[in-house]
Amino acid sequence: MRTVYVNGDYVPEGEAKISVFDRGFLFADAVYEVTSVLDGMLVDFAGHCGRLRRSLGELNMTFDMSDDQLLDVHRRLVASNDLREGLVYLQVSRGAADRDFIFPPEGTPPTTVLFTQTKALIDNPLAERGQKIATVKDERWTRCDIKTVQLLYPSLAKMEARSKGADDAWMVRDGLVTEGSSNNAYIVTADGVIVTRDISNLILNGITRRAVLECARKLQMTVEERPFSVEEAHVAREAFSTSASGFVNPVVEIDGQPVGDGTVGPVARQLRDVYIAEMRKSAI
Ligand code: PDD
Repeated sequence: MRTVYVNGDYVPEGEAKISVFDRGFLFADAVYEVTSVLDGMLVDFAGHCGRLRRSLGELNMTFDMSDDQLLDVHRRLVASNDLREGLVYLQVSRGAADRDFIFPPEGTPPTTVLFTQTKALIDNPLAERGQKIATVKDERWTRCDIKTVQLLYPSLAKMEARSKGADDAWMVRDGLVTEGSSNNAYIVTADGVIVTRDISNLILNGITRRAVLECARKLQMTVEERPFSVEEAHVAREAFSTSASGFVNPVVEIDGQPVGDGTVGPVARQLRDVYIAEMRKSAI
């Protein structure tokens, strides 16, 4: 049984409790982060902390744990669950209060929950075979830059993709791809240019995205941060996605049509290898 963290306590998962009045539960009034673990070490922890602070700030949520305290909790959970490879999930909600659309009174303590998940991140069969993607309408709210737990629509989108025989969904707004259900989306054009949507309120500013684009630039690859259309994706030479849980994940099919020759492309393969090597070096 895993040990999880709830509001200062380390408890067996079966004994962990939060209130039925928790705002995260009743209003999806909570933000989260997912940090990957390689060789028992945290990948880009500073990046995830930075984005957590931004999400909290955008929603005017008070949270008094420092980055060092958060690092300590992450490390203690990784150690007590003997996690070598996988994820640490962190969620902070606005706390528990009688159900009301008005925010709870100032001073209501946030609810902080962390748990680990074992996952094979390196030997991922999907990365070997390449993902099949189905495009679906992006019907989320327009503050996708805040990492809230409002994940019902992305979950529905992924299920819709699955029902079409695909592995994941890429969401489309006004004919342009925003991002994947839980990852950022990229194509490589016929000229070899890596294209991914520019940062705005319509996508999450991926921590993996930032590191992968840095790897690409170091490798002298050309990167364009701009929206791309579904049509452009259909004629791309390559495609891939990035996230803390998938790293760089090649795409070999979009809407039933092969991407390029329908096999994992060299740009995605190289970026995956270089990204993993870099993160292994910098993980803490
Ligand atoms: N999802 N876009 C969306 C909508 C996401 O949910 C995620 C992450 C990303 C990639 O962000 P990052 O590189 O920081 O992981 C982009 C996490 C992994 C999840 O919900 O499990």
